[in-house]
Amino acid sequence: MDKSKKKKYAIKVKDLYKIYMIGTNKVRALNGVDFAIEKGTFCCIVGTSGSGKSTLLNMMAGLEPPTKGEIIIAGEHMERKNEAQLVNFRQAHVGFIFQSYNLLPNMTAIENIALPLTFQGMDKAKRIKKAKKALKMVGLQEFGNHRPGQMSGGQQQRVGIARALVVNPEIIFADEPTGNLDSNTTLDVLKLIKKIVAENKQTVVMVTHDNNLASYGDMIIHIKDGKITEIEQNRQVNEDLDNVELGGTLDIPSEMSDEAALSAQPAEPQPVSAEQDTASDQESSKGQQVLGNVTVPSYEGYHPGTSGNDPGSA
Ligand SMILES: Nc1ncnc2c1ncn2[C@@H]1O[C@H](COP(=O)(O)OP(=O)(O)OP(=O)(O)O)[C@@H](O)[C@H]1O
Ligand SMILES: [Mg+2]
Repeated sequence: MDKSKKKKYAIKVKDLYKIYMIGTNKVRALNGVDFAIEKGTFCCIVGTSGSGKSTLLNMMAGLEPPTKGEIIIAGEHMERKNEAQLVNFRQAHVGFIFQSYNLLPNMTAIENIALPLTFQGMDKAKRIKKAKKALKMVGLQEFGNHRPGQMSGGQQQRVGIARALVVNPEIIFADEPTGNLDSNTTLDVLKLIKKIVAENKQTVVMVTHDNNLASYGDMIIHIKDGKITEIEQNRQVNEDLDNVELGGTLDIPSEMSDEAALSAQPAEPQPVSAEQDTASDQESSKGQQVLGNVTVPSYEGYHPGTSGNDPGSA
């Protein structure tokens, strides 16, 4: 069968500029940016502070108009929409995960997650049902009635993820979603985002200043002074995830990948029998270990065996 792979793009950005005027000074926050993100990609945008990451993300999400250029999402031009059209578009296609969680403090986890559904005019019983399902996806079914103040940072971020997922968006934008978390919890949250979107064939664009975290991406866009300096395609190592049947179980128990990561630590040179590993374990680049279907970047401060949110038996 001649299956010439037809690429489907979730996002296309063409010749994008954002120039701010500060007095008579021009700040080129984005200075001619071009790229396309295939559907189902976990894309990381990485760069130092002030490089233009948030500007780019906000523009893709239709939160800010570009000075010049095109942004095509789900086949529609963002830069041609008016404010009301953008609001509708975001409600229908886009989810957000924020660094600061942005949960409403007086609402329970369930209520926070259900909130985006109220904007869709969904009735309450249905909203609660969907919110519970999303909460389960992030492994917090026990915490439905907790308010944000009664949860850890990692748990709050999981609620934030569930809230982004509840509307089943095609695209999820995340700006430093793990910026307030410790390194263990950061990895838990990243793996969770990656696993869920792979299962649902969603596209994620995540901004980070951390190269280690960016190495989780199928695609890594490096940005500096408003320009792209490099685009890495890391997808090869994650192909297996894409090939999993939709609706089939993608079995990545977090304990297993943590254990696997532990055995992957280079500190103790342990004899590893190649036969143990599956064929997909061969690819390894830039400190990444490919374990079964999961790419685990080596990450300083990561101590496998402790699950970020688990207070243990204190
Ligand atoms: N509203 C604005 N007015 C003027 N300049 C702005 C505005 N927003 C951003 N900039 C400038 O544009 C550049 C890119 O900013 P941006 O917020 O996109 O950076 P960033 O990569 O997200 O940085 P950080 O990692 O610190 O969040 C910076 O030089 C910033 O000062
Ligand atoms: Mg930023």
